[in-house]
Amino acid sequence: MGLLRAALSGARDTVSRVAPPQSQRALTDAALAHWSDTEAPRWAVESHWRSGLGELWSSVGPRQLALTRSLLASLGRDVPEGRVLEWGCGGGANAVSFAPLCREYVGVDISQHSLDECRDQVLTHTGREIRTVLVDPATPETVVAELGPGTIDLVVCFYVFELLPSSRSATQVLRAVHDLLAADGAAVIQIKYDDGTWTGAARRRDYHRHVAHMTTFKIHEFWAICEQQGLRPHVLTLVPEDELDTRYAYVLLTRSGG
Ligand SMILES: C[S@@+](CC[C@H](N)C(=O)[O-])C[C@H]1O[C@@H](n2cnc3c(N)ncnc32)[C@H](O)[C@@H]1O
Repeated sequence: MGLLRAALSGARDTVSRVAPPQSQRALTDAALAHWSDTEAPRWAVESHWRSGLGELWSSVGPRQLALTRSLLASLGRDVPEGRVLEWGCGGGANAVSFAPLCREYVGVDISQHSLDECRDQVLTHTGREIRTVLVDPATPETVVAELGPGTIDLVVCFYVFELLPSSRSATQVLRAVHDLLAADGAAVIQIKYDDGTWTGAARRRDYHRHVAHMTTFKIHEFWAICEQQGLRPHVLTLVPEDELDTRYAYVLLTRSGG
């Protein structure tokens, strides 16, 4: 039975890499369904809620803040005092570290449940209110319409790009990031990189099964996609393994010409 299950699982993995990708509509619908199923056994872990990650939760924010600061320092900058936006804020693990440093912290997420949890955690840990914005994965540009173009000083995004439904969705998010950034704004985006191995490839099908591997990029491809969306990559840091997963890259971006 175990052997049969392993064989079937292997066959499904093979299909996910060699079969044509599912339609964009099917993938975004599956993503919405996945993140709406708050009763699923791993939902709180995948959403990085305090109740899901346990002790690890408190170490996520300080680590991402330190990494962000070291990337910004390469441009002689620090976390800006103005408006900071996190795309995919989950249960607030990063928000509790970043929110006290800025005038306004904006959490964006596909799940209202997580937005409420993020707000509660920031209030409990820092006494600060944050702004929250619910996003549909099919239309990330609505965030720009809601907040206004050119109004964000720093965008951060951690542990999210790999679970965007497709590279097309990731491109849409990068365009929204470009449009949100002030002329002298910056973004730090974490991606999962494709190292050319079987396990590193983007899955492109069966969202629920492959949630944390849906969208990976070869480094040079991601660099080029950012440039196509009007974002200038400056520095890239590789983190082959952290406490949560493997094959991560952090890219520091500004608006081209900004
Ligand atoms: C792994 S958690 C990461 C949470 C947080 N960034 C952190 O580092 O702890 C992924 C989060 O991304 C959210 N998410 C999934 N798809 C999204 C999308 N298309 N746009 C914004 N958020 C999304 C999920 O609801 C979840 O809260």
